[in-house]
Amino acid sequence: MTRIAVAGAGLIGTRHLDALRLAGIPVHSVIDPDPSAADIAARHGVPHHADLAAALATRPDGVILSTPNTHHRDGALACIAVGVPVLVEKPLAATVEDARAIVAAGQAAGVPVLTGHYRRHQGVVAAARERIEAGALGTPVAAHAMFWIAKPDGYFDTAWRRAPGAGPLLVNLIHDLDLLRFLLGEVESVRAIASNRVRGFENEDHAAALIAFDSGVICTAQVSDAIVAPWSWEMTSHDNPAYPPTDQNALWIGGTHGSLALPRGDLWDDGGRRDWMTPIRRETLTRATPDPLVAQARNFADVIAGRATPVCSGAEGLATLAALDALIRATRSGGVERPTP
Ligand SMILES: NC(=O)c1ccc[n+]([C@@H]2O[C@H](COP(=O)([O-])OP(=O)(O)OC[C@H]3O[C@@H](n4cnc5c(N)ncnc54)[C@H](O)[C@@H]3O)[C@@H](O)[C@H]2O)c1
Repeated sequence: MTRIAVAGAGLIGTRHLDALRLAGIPVHSVIDPDPSAADIAARHGVPHHADLAAALATRPDGVILSTPNTHHRDGALACIAVGVPVLVEKPLAATVEDARAIVAAGQAAGVPVLTGHYRRHQGVVAAARERIEAGALGTPVAAHAMFWIAKPDGYFDTAWRRAPGAGPLLVNLIHDLDLLRFLLGEVESVRAIASNRVRGFENEDHAAALIAFDSGVICTAQVSDAIVAPWSWEMTSHDNPAYPPTDQNALWIGGTHGSLALPRGDLWDDGGRRDWMTPIRRETLTRATPDPLVAQARNFADVIAGRATPVCSGAEGLATLAALDALIRATRSGGVERPTP
């Protein structure tokens, strides 16, 4: 049976541990320099290692790397060097260059690298992708993504969350951008404005972007972690019980023959009439889905066992990070920026 170690037992790492248990996948060990991780490991009945090298020496079958972004490169490369498949939390790395190094090393060594863009594992997302590809919206024309949420002051007590690169663009909008890429294809160019006017930290606390896709779709995206509002994937998807649920949507896609609101899965069309006086009707896509972190853990175990391909590979994580990097560059240049190949 595949045994997976979790490196970084913080906010998301502890959720990965629970997801592995729910998926019936044995946990190999918990890796974290913080002494409090020993209790977490004990709760799961597995060894605690203070560093990744010590854990890798005991041969886990895979590692979920849920450490701070700046550690992703070294952690992933250490796993790849000893032939251990690794699922790296998003963003794949702190920089595009580091992400490229991870993907290149994984490909050269033939070691699977996955990225933790867990939304791809949600049933309603898979259903939406199938229906878009089947032409339910006609030709996609436009999209709008919303991430407005209020992070409490205490969230920023952890030093790395105030450090450059830990703002809501890299931490949160990257999820929306990956979802947009999953549903609409590659990003062609980006324009964006960011501001830190609410908290005054080095990182932005809100931003707006205009994203053009290769397909011609034009998307507007809003991101803020300083606004009280019900429109974020976190609050609307109900996939993480930590967030209070709302009955709203966070992503809208419009096409020549219909439109879609997610994650509620409302698919609107007028029966092909394309006539503003014809009543439009709503179909609700089914969202039968396990916890997406559980589905992601199962995909990782299946990839390790050679039974599946990654739902979100390292290369996909790199492409999403490259698109986000273009967006961040656009906030600085004030011009049009393109993802680097
Ligand atoms: N998929 C998601 O929805 C999601 C949500 C939150 C965070 N994340 C990502 O997960 C990662 C961790 O975020 P978090 O909010 O859980 O952070 P966190 O600060 O809560 O936890 C990070 C943990 O890593 C440990 N750590 C630090 N250096 C380490 C090392 N060298 N080896 C092992 N452990 C080490 C820390 O002690 C801490 O316990 C980040 O990349 C973040 O972007 C993803």
